Amino acid sequence: MIFNGLSEVGDDPILLVSTMYRACTNPNKVDLGVGVYKDADGVTAILKTVKKAEQYLVTHQETKGYISPAGNPDFNMAVQKLLFGDDHPALKEGRVTTIQAPGGTGGIRIGAEFIKTCKPDATLWISDPTWPNHYGIAKGVGLKTKPYRYYDIKKGEFLYEGMIEDLKQAQAGDVIVLHGCCHNASGADLSVEQWNELADFMAERDLVPFIDIAYQGFANGIDEDAYAVRHFCEKLPEVMIASSYSKNFAIYRDRAGAVTLVSATAELNKVNASHMLLAVRGIYSMPPDHGAAVVAHILGDDELRAEWEAEVDEMRSRVKEMRHLFVKQMAEKAPNSGFGYIGEQNGMFSFLTLTAEQIQSLIHDHSIFMMANGRVNIAGLTKSNIGYVTDAVASLFKS
Ligand SMILES: Cc1ncc(COP(=O)(O)O)c(C=O)c1O
Repeated sequence: MIFNGLSEVGDDPILLVSTMYRACTNPNKVDLGVGVYKDADGVTAILKTVKKAEQYLVTHQETKGYISPAGNPDFNMAVQKLLFGDDHPALKEGRVTTIQAPGGTGGIRIGAEFIKTCKPDATLWISDPTWPNHYGIAKGVGLKTKPYRYYDIKKGEFLYEGMIEDLKQAQAGDVIVLHGCCHNASGADLSVEQWNELADFMAERDLVPFIDIAYQGFANGIDEDAYAVRHFCEKLPEVMIASSYSKNFAIYRDRAGAVTLVSATAELNKVNASHMLLAVRGIYSMPPDHGAAVVAHILGDDELRAEWEAEVDEMRSRVKEMRHLFVKQMAEKAPNSGFGYIGEQNGMFSFLTLTAEQIQSLIHDHSIFMMANGRVNIAGLTKSNIGYVTDAVASLFKS
């Protein structure tokens, strides 16, 4: 016997929050835990453009035969256009490979496998805090990790100087994981000037960026949010990018993502692509088709693409509106609570700077569910529940 030596692993913290939310019978309960977009009615709806693309596929798709380890070529081209725009030098020089993957997670895994193949002793530098799966994937691949300072949860402060200070300890050939926009979990992003400075800093030190971009369009716009990707790919010879289409197409369960590698030359690009495909073959052989086919169809049709951009604009505007409403209500209800920073952050996530006891009180006394470290999904707020939430948070500041 071999399957008898383990003890049970606890549930993922985010799944625990969802379980607690589902089990709660308070009619006023609010879920600010799970990381999916919700609309003004609190629903994770299917986008209209996705429905149209699915109708099209049902009518026109002629086979369910295998695609290929690299996935759908139209999807891969569309991903490159979203990431790089129409005429990025790296594209013109033939230095870019994109491989469709099962979600952004699959893209990160293939990227990490390839890093392990090329430089097994590389350290993956990961922001503190981060999306916890970065550690899970690095562990799965067997890469060393080190955290770099990024955000002070207790003070609600972005730690750019601390980040640079810590990255000075990285060795040439180490890989720096960066959130391309809408940092998960803090919502704090680098400014354009800081991205520029960081790119120069990394180029000088021969550090390799691994940009994880899972929320393109949720900060300022499709092109605006690709600034870091485009700039790093101009300034550095090698860049790895993992991108997810789970959020901006709301096709979470369909698992559409990609890994994109920029190599120093077109010749190296060809060789590198062959090794990344070898990793794909050894893990899942081929990616799932449906989500990527939907994305490819929408992005390949001018009218649908414009409609989709409007849908992304709507999601972004709603989250921004909830951020501003939260800040306004908190300023009225608890003037010294200091939540102004929430209005300046990007994407769905932010931390509420509260003590562990205050967070537990929100969960247990008010049925407002969030991560134990105070990470909230702002998209869980609606005009119907925000008054209840800000009343509860404000009550923590009254003695
Ligand atoms: C920072 C970050 N990267 C990657 C992903 C992975 O997304 P997917 O669901 O497409 O695997 C997520 C999802 O939450 C994320 O927040």
